[in-house]
Amino acid sequence: MVVADYYYPPLFSVAPMMEWTDHHYRTLARLISKHAWLYTEMLAAETIVYQKDNLHRFLAYSPDQHPIVLQIGGSNLQHIATATELANPYGYDEINFNCGCPSPRVAGHGCFGARLMLDPKFVGEAMSVIASKTDSPVSVKCRIGVDDHDSYYELCDFIYKVSSLSPTRHFIIHSRKALLNGISPADNRKIPPLKYEYYFALLRDFPDLKFTINGGIDSVDEVNTALREGAHGVMVGRAAYKNPWSLLGHVDTAVYGAPSSGVTRRQVLEKYQVYGDSVLWRDGKKPDVRDVAKPLLGLFHSERGNGLWKRKADAAFQNCTTIKSFFEETLDAIPDFVLDAPISGPPLISENPFAGVRDKLPPPYDSKEQELMYA
Ligand SMILES: Cc1cc2nc3c(=O)[nH]c(=O)nc-3n(C[C@H](O)[C@H](O)[C@H](O)COP(=O)(O)O)c2cc1C
Repeated sequence: MVVADYYYPPLFSVAPMMEWTDHHYRTLARLISKHAWLYTEMLAAETIVYQKDNLHRFLAYSPDQHPIVLQIGGSNLQHIATATELANPYGYDEINFNCGCPSPRVAGHGCFGARLMLDPKFVGEAMSVIASKTDSPVSVKCRIGVDDHDSYYELCDFIYKVSSLSPTRHFIIHSRKALLNGISPADNRKIPPLKYEYYFALLRDFPDLKFTINGGIDSVDEVNTALREGAHGVMVGRAAYKNPWSLLGHVDTAVYGAPSSGVTRRQVLEKYQVYGDSVLWRDGKKPDVRDVAKPLLGLFHSERGNGLWKRKADAAFQNCTTIKSFFEETLDAIPDFVLDAPISGPPLISENPFAGVRDKLPPPYDSKEQELMYA
């Protein structure tokens, strides 16, 4: 049974990131923060359908990863329906549909990812299908536009149609548009400018819906600033992967107001070692030490010994066959005072990325025109 009501709300979530937010990363993340919502990597509906005899490999997770959201991608309603049905028994706390991925691999494959924003009617249908096949709430993750279809009106049109045609009440807004002209996915996460004013205008114009803001938010202080400005939730991607200790370490206390766990990185690594050694080589050659240790590489971001540790890690990947021996070969690079320090005090105050955003809001959206179309 889905137990999402039991958790704190998704004030803070870690974004879905292909090849990054795998089971290993999520295990690490959960050792640092008890309350952050964690997203899976995007899983294509086709993968679920064609691997239905192998579902555990793609869909299983350990129970401590709740609250956890499964993101699926797809463009074929039948596959989307079957995939959701197959995923339902796994008890994810929400099913999210990807309408933001600009990757040519995905975008060129039928109408998939960000390109779907150009077809809100299809997304509405897909979301109805998903909602009918799961017991969990459903949500959409999208950009603020695609190519030249980047007006605030077009974004509202998308939100209005999807929410009118389906039970979708939660949207995650990556606050930059997607360019489908062949630039790389990485460039698509930095070249189109962030337009937070579109996000805050959505809060104003769709008061019955929930919106999570995403894009360029790099510290817990910025997360709290967004929440103070009225955001319903904040999703962080790259910063939560590249600097998990500093980002996730402050989430429970500074965002959720929970008491500090006092956990240290040494304790996190001890638990991670038990996990890592239990999953190594599960499928014969995989996962190997590099796969399992990869999420740890950001754990000492900006700390004394970090550079040396990473060099030692590179060498250790060549010969270590257990996570225990990997730690024995590498961790002497990190001073004890770093390993044994609990999360430090309140996070640094950074610049307010939302300063002045209220002065830039686009004119209010008027859905009456749309209602006439559906009358
Ligand atoms: C390596 C990587 C993989 C990503 N994979 C996905 C994905 O599978 N699904 C998705 O909706 N977004 C994906 N994204 C986009 C992130 O979810 C997020 O929207 C984006 O990184 C902006 O947030 P940030 O500025 O906090 O990183 C990916 C981003 C990165 C860096």
